[in-house]
Amino acid sequence: MEDCHVLLVIFPGQGHINPSLQFAKRLVNLGAKVTLSTGFSAMNHMSRPQIPGLDFAPFSDGYDAGLKPDDLNDFWVSMKTRGSDALAKLITARKEEGRPFTRLIYTTIMYWAGVVARGLHVPATLLWIQPATVLDIYYHYFTEYGDLFRNCSGNQVVEVPGVPCLGVRDFPSFLFSTETNVNYDLDWAIEAMRDQIEEINVEESPKVLVNTFDALEFDALRAIKKVRMVGIGPLIPSAYLDGKDPSDTAFGGDLRQNSNDYVEWLDSQPKNSVVYLAFGSYADVPNTILEEIAQGLVNSKLPFLWVLRETYKGEKPEEKLRCKEELEGQGKIVRWCAQVEVLQHPSIGCFLTHCGWNSTLESIASGVPLVACPLWNDQFSNAKLIQDVWKMGVRVSGNEEGVVTADEYKRCIECVMGGGEKGEELRKNAKKWKDLAKAAVKEDGSSYLNLKAYMDEMLTLKS
Ligand code: UDX
Repeated sequence: MEDCHVLLVIFPGQGHINPSLQFAKRLVNLGAKVTLSTGFSAMNHMSRPQIPGLDFAPFSDGYDAGLKPDDLNDFWVSMKTRGSDALAKLITARKEEGRPFTRLIYTTIMYWAGVVARGLHVPATLLWIQPATVLDIYYHYFTEYGDLFRNCSGNQVVEVPGVPCLGVRDFPSFLFSTETNVNYDLDWAIEAMRDQIEEINVEESPKVLVNTFDALEFDALRAIKKVRMVGIGPLIPSAYLDGKDPSDTAFGGDLRQNSNDYVEWLDSQPKNSVVYLAFGSYADVPNTILEEIAQGLVNSKLPFLWVLRETYKGEKPEEKLRCKEELEGQGKIVRWCAQVEVLQHPSIGCFLTHCGWNSTLESIASGVPLVACPLWNDQFSNAKLIQDVWKMGVRVSGNEEGVVTADEYKRCIECVMGGGEKGEELRKNAKKWKDLAKAAVKEDGSSYLNLKAYMDEMLTLKS
């Protein structure tokens, strides 16, 4: 089906690369050709899966050697300017060669790619890689409900369509500045989100593809009258969902090396006995937080697998931990792992996570209950959903000084891992969401049918 050629433009971070690669595989399976485009800051470091029908068109974003959180403000401007230019040239060249792109799809905050496409008369669609609930929050914030959020403080809550009642601690961190655990300069992010919402609103009846599924966020997907949100997820490898392609076991675009030296150890652990801990691909977790988590883990005496990435300064975080020696022998620390594969391993009993949306969905699709430890971005809202809406995890709370103590980490881990009524309930709910996730991607499931309908629409509307 040469007629459907998608240019998929993604932010150069692992949290965008993983769902986008899975999305690209699904489009290719439905007969499309996909060209994935992102900055060299990611493309130079990522493995590129060899899939017939998928190719890559990187552009220079000005940070070709790699990207660090401290660079983000300048990077954002550089990527937008260089990327807009590069994409315009690419789209024009392909048209002149007689093999035009029929659609541009871009991930969250890459709205400028949508602007380029519109200017060149190529239809564009946003692929939202956070929960529908979070899109609702930003949309309401930047349209009619901004004052409700800005005036909310203390124990007050905000009530807006499609979203559970939110206190300030549940807002995405870009909407408040005091409680985030990551101190990067993020002024650009809220502006990017505002421009993203404006770009959605340019169209008369916009459609947004969302990495979620109907059963998980039914109301949230239908909460904005003007915008049609369509759940097409979870975008995780097929082998763990519909099982149609047993060889599809990994995203295939890792930016880091996986040592694989934990597999035998996991195999040797009893069922549901291991605590898995990881904080996504990006943020350096402050040492003060790591100390409390480590002590809580030691006090729990439970076996663990902990992904501790090297910091951007090249430090190994575990070397600074006061209880480093006690940790050794109780579990394993690795720099990077195949996370979905780990979550699917029968030995895993809970996932202590920063609640990045990919990690959250991967845990949902694996039926693993969560300890929610949000750090920044959408993670606070995701933690709210995990604990209060889907009831498949517990969220850590700070003490009077706002510190989450070792005792609190131990309490939450034991609650999720324990045989008590609460632990049973969390496991039961986790299993329920896993089954619903699997049902969504089957051939009669909502996500499969939604993506199929989108493909049909692309073919009808091709320029
Ligand atoms: C970013 C934002 O921080 C997050 O809030 C937003 O929801 C998505 O974009 P990130 O922090 O990297 O993402 O977290 P997450 O969304 O969880 O994505 C991390 C990805 O890296 C996951 O797909 C996970 O499977 C993968 N990963 C992580 C590994 O493959 N191995 C690891 O050891 C750790």
